[in-house]
Amino acid sequence: MTKQKAKLTIGDKVFEFPILDGTVGPSVIDIRSLYAQTGLFTYDPGFTSTAACDSSITYIDGDKGELLYRGYPIDQLADDSHFLEVCFLLLYGNLPNASELEEFETRVTRHTMMHEQMHQLYHGFRRDAHPMAIVCGVVGAMAAFYHDSTDISDPEQREIASIRMIAKMPTIAANAYKYSIGQPFVYPRNDLNYAENFLHMCFSVPTEDYKIDPILSKAMDRIFTLHADHEQNASTSTVRLAGSSDANPFACIAAGVACLWGPAHGGANEAALNMLREIGTVDNIPEYVARAKDKNDPFRLMGFGHRVYKSYDPRAKVMQESAKEVLELMGVSNNPTLQVARELEKIALEDPYFVERKLYPNVDFYSGIILNAIGFPTSMFTAIFALSRTVGWIAQWKEMIGDKQKKIGRPRQLYDGSTYRDYVAIDKR
Ligand code: SDX
Repeated sequence: MTKQKAKLTIGDKVFEFPILDGTVGPSVIDIRSLYAQTGLFTYDPGFTSTAACDSSITYIDGDKGELLYRGYPIDQLADDSHFLEVCFLLLYGNLPNASELEEFETRVTRHTMMHEQMHQLYHGFRRDAHPMAIVCGVVGAMAAFYHDSTDISDPEQREIASIRMIAKMPTIAANAYKYSIGQPFVYPRNDLNYAENFLHMCFSVPTEDYKIDPILSKAMDRIFTLHADHEQNASTSTVRLAGSSDANPFACIAAGVACLWGPAHGGANEAALNMLREIGTVDNIPEYVARAKDKNDPFRLMGFGHRVYKSYDPRAKVMQESAKEVLELMGVSNNPTLQVARELEKIALEDPYFVERKLYPNVDFYSGIILNAIGFPTSMFTAIFALSRTVGWIAQWKEMIGDKQKKIGRPRQLYDGSTYRDYVAIDKR
């Protein structure tokens, strides 16, 4: 939908570019003809002002602290929906009716087991391997086991690959956890829902079943929903760029897992809990806040700040309430880590440094407290984030593959290296 044009004056020439409007949020200047018309590139490292695609999946208003999945606000979905219903919404665009939901849940449930031979992959890793290293490797290896759903030109294969990915990620992540603690893998069960199944595969042992606490499975399900998608974040952009080369879906998701692992991105939940533990008590907070503000100190408050949210991350709000509820119900409401987190948030949000830069807690600030209360080690936090985000990566990948304007992603650069020079033989250097 174009309405007005943007004018760019370079020297004595004026160039015009269409402005495209979405349904909500910032319009865009369509500069696809810029290089052809002017011989110039735009320059935007970190893509702070660049829309890399158009999408109808997730909308974020960073100033309002609003997050919509296909138009539905995240707090309503977290309170009233559940993860597999949210998966259907993200994948197909609307909330399912009862029969659609039942059929979808059955399809996902039927794909939760992994190929038996994939269990051997884990035994190639050391027991102390980080779960994300294992998850990244096993997801990439899926292309070798499910080669019948790697032809991205076949819509049916794209669909089965999507269901397999969403269904098997909990099994892949749970097996990574079991392997790291030297316990046998636990098979998924078809009588459990998605969150219950994940807890069962992580915490059951052959000698006794894990009694699933409904409070924890609801908290787990809510964590999955809160992390499901987030428009064009770094890992989703990685999946889109990998997918733009027509790479198979498992390779694309493995690329997303690798990118998410970074502490500036999904790895922040592990880093945030480790930071809260390092701070230890409320008395130590001022020292760490001072370090976070010190330009000469690389320390940052992990779980704070966001490229898009310049107000409170709506997911952090839900997560904070959920952390309080879970800990109270588990009788550990005076959890020292939660106390440090809440006091740190209070101090930071009154400090001009954070206020001026609009730095608020993000999704990773409180999630680790809940995951720790459920029983996970910090090393599993990002693997759980990857498990949750798989549906978002898949939905965005499907949208890109189905886009008639799809082109391979190939950014250019501002070159500031050596200009042409002839080779010099070593005895003349
Ligand atoms: C996720 O994109 C997504 O949607 C991601 C995500 C998703 O769902 O996919 O929401 C998930 O990745 C959440 C973010 C998790 N990362 C962290 O919590 C790590 C800590 N946060 C920062 O590293 C940082 O805030 C980023 C990476 C999240 C955002 O970085 P930007 O947008 O590039 O901002 P910036 O680094 O340019 O910071 C702006 C200013 C700088 O100060 P000045 O140079 O202006 O003086 O704010 C400061 C920064 O030094 N700053 C911080 C800070 N974050 C930014 N100072 C102290 N502590 C922090 N956490």
